[in-house]
Amino acid sequence: MKKILITGGAGFIGSHVVRLFVNKYADYKIFNLDALTYAGNLENLKDIENKANYVFVKGDITDEKFINELFAENDFDGVIHLAAESHVDRSILDPLQFVKTNVIGTVTLLNAAKNNWKDAMEGKRFYHVSTDEVYGTLGDEGLFLETTPYDPHSPYSASKASSDHFVRAYHDTYKLPILISNCSNNYGSHHFPEKLIPLAINNMKNKKPVPVYGKGENVRDWLFVEDHARAIDTIFHNGKNGDTYNIGGFNEWKNIDLINTLCKIMDRKLNRAEGETATLITYVKDRAGHDLRYAIDASKLNKELGWSPSLQFEEGLERTVDWYLANEEWLNRVTSGDYQKYYDTQYDKR
Ligand code: NAD
Ligand code: TYD
Repeated sequence: MKKILITGGAGFIGSHVVRLFVNKYADYKIFNLDALTYAGNLENLKDIENKANYVFVKGDITDEKFINELFAENDFDGVIHLAAESHVDRSILDPLQFVKTNVIGTVTLLNAAKNNWKDAMEGKRFYHVSTDEVYGTLGDEGLFLETTPYDPHSPYSASKASSDHFVRAYHDTYKLPILISNCSNNYGSHHFPEKLIPLAINNMKNKKPVPVYGKGENVRDWLFVEDHARAIDTIFHNGKNGDTYNIGGFNEWKNIDLINTLCKIMDRKLNRAEGETATLITYVKDRAGHDLRYAIDASKLNKELGWSPSLQFEEGLERTVDWYLANEEWLNRVTSGDYQKYYDTQYDKR
């Protein structure tokens, strides 16, 4: 039975990856390692928590002794590393936490893998899940390719860029078998409501102002989270050792157009008059260093490994809104406590 360590499996994308692997690969034992920060939630995995091939391990990727022991005890066949601090606005408030988790945490895992696998690298895989934000920002034209030079602007993207460099350095220096993917913005169920789409759905539902930074003209490429999980499965199994793959939705939206589309869906779902939800849109002070446009060219992944997104955006958004409306308790629980403190710090000054 292969032992696969997935870090950050209680978070948004990680929970979808864990679910896919546990359900699809009965012959793998899946270890979900997560520190359960504000963003990690074991409720995300209720449907698979009792499966025989699933184990949850609570722990911190920056805890060197604990990580070394975990690797020594289990001799993992592969690692899929998603644990991270993931929100740009929080990285502006507290950059050092992003260096600790995203840089030191990643290097701690790399070291443990290198030391544990040193005599038997063959067949092992250290897969690092990263973001398109490492490439910086685009003007009206062009797409990010795997060869686009790194040019991060936020503390979040700088910390992810740094971790990507370390992963490549371990490949070049120690021959660690690695894979990296850089994905565009994800959306879907179990997304923490600090990010644009779930925050907007939550505020629309509660008739609270929907904050749009600047003029709402920034562009993001959106991918349904289950399509990202499928891409990770494809790359983990078929990707070429040492290679990088861009993952994207071929689906660019200006923030304001996306918010207006969501408003229309919410009017319909909540039996509101046409245009009622859109009255909640509130333009607020722009994010510092706000990247104008992200757009991914994912054609390498399509050509070499046959992956493509499965879902149209409108259908994905409908499914996402339906999930949030049906899971009010989940939403209420994750927005109680510390969430309110963060929300007040982040939005009161705007
Ligand atoms: P998330 O914030 O929802 O989840 C992160 C998870 O990591 C949480 O469960 C948290 O408890 C855990 N974690 C944080 N610090 C930890 C630590 N020190 N030790 C162990 N666990 C820890 O993030 P997400 O949106 O699911 O993103 C997952 C990964 O995908 C990240 O590496 C992120 O950079 C990358 N990514 C995200 C997106 C996106 O749109 N969300 C897009 C591209 C890439
Ligand atoms: P976000 O979901 O934070 O993802 P990222 O910054 O990693 O792309 O934000 C998506 C876009 O939405 C980004 O251009 C910032 C903008 N935004 C708002 O306009 N209002 C908000 O309240 C948030 C959280 C984001």
